Amino acid sequence: MNQKRSQRLDGKAVLITGAGSGIGKASALLFASEGALVACADVISEAAEETAATIRSDGGKAISVQGDVRSADDAQRMVSSTVSAFHKLDVLFNNAGTGIRGSVHELNEEQWDTVIGINLKGVFQCSKAAIPVFLEQESGNIINTASTFGILASPRYPAYCASKGGVIMLTKQMALDYGPQIRVNCICPGATDTPRLRRNMSLRPDPSLHEQELLKLNRAAGRLARPEEIANAALFLASDESSFVTGSALVVDGGQTIDA
Ligand SMILES: NC(=O)c1ccc[n+]([C@@H]2O[C@H](COP(=O)([O-])OP(=O)(O)OC[C@H]3O[C@@H](n4cnc5c(N)ncnc54)[C@H](O)[C@@H]3O)[C@@H](O)[C@H]2O)c1
Repeated sequence: MNQKRSQRLDGKAVLITGAGSGIGKASALLFASEGALVACADVISEAAEETAATIRSDGGKAISVQGDVRSADDAQRMVSSTVSAFHKLDVLFNNAGTGIRGSVHELNEEQWDTVIGINLKGVFQCSKAAIPVFLEQESGNIINTASTFGILASPRYPAYCASKGGVIMLTKQMALDYGPQIRVNCICPGATDTPRLRRNMSLRPDPSLHEQELLKLNRAAGRLARPEEIANAALFLASDESSFVTGSALVVDGGQTIDA
């Protein structure tokens, strides 16, 4: 049989923040390979464009948009650029994120504001910009990237843990307010081998010891996740296969939270 495989996101218009690297980039490439029209947004314009150009050179449809998720104007521009390019918006993937280590007495206010601003306020800003489009269309889908560190505390990571715990609860809250038209879910990845994780590792006094600790963290799998493995979970949430899934925090962590 030579039947064409049906694509899981055929013709869906998707806006992904943090699409220039790591989980966001892997998701953009995977979504495009499943037929999505992808708006690749990132605070670094070259990174966003590189992902979009890769999609286009593989025969897919993509645009890039520069923007900082903390800014209401930028969030609005990301949404309106997506709608101008693709005439609709089906899925918003709030994935951009960052983390700064340091206990409460060590973090300064600016560092706290940076992490909470990107990880939590960013979800608010981009969702706020997208929701009127979704309400007008009477359908929409929001996926947020939380973390296992929104469920478990991690040493010297207060702003990150607080932001990701906030993302899980904001996910559930929005699912309540906007169902049935808009589904809202989040993913809680465990340690994933992305440029951010490698950057953080290189800042440690003994990076190889830290890597061993991370491998132990994803305890049942005993390895880091590949960004594509997190993207696969996002693909499920973006597709109609998850049509009855809303308000959920999908844990993809190689067993990190088994005995939490
Ligand atoms: N890597 C992991 O182990 C891991 C585990 C759990 C959760 N996460 C979460 O996954 C998401 C992606 O992380 P990653 O590891 O792929 O990181 P990454 O640094 O590789 O990619 C993040 C992207 O977000 C962009 N970005 C940063 N600040 C931004 C802003 N203000 N506005 C728009 N874009 C911005 C960056 O430029 C970058 O391209 C984050 O929300 C992170 O917290 C990662």
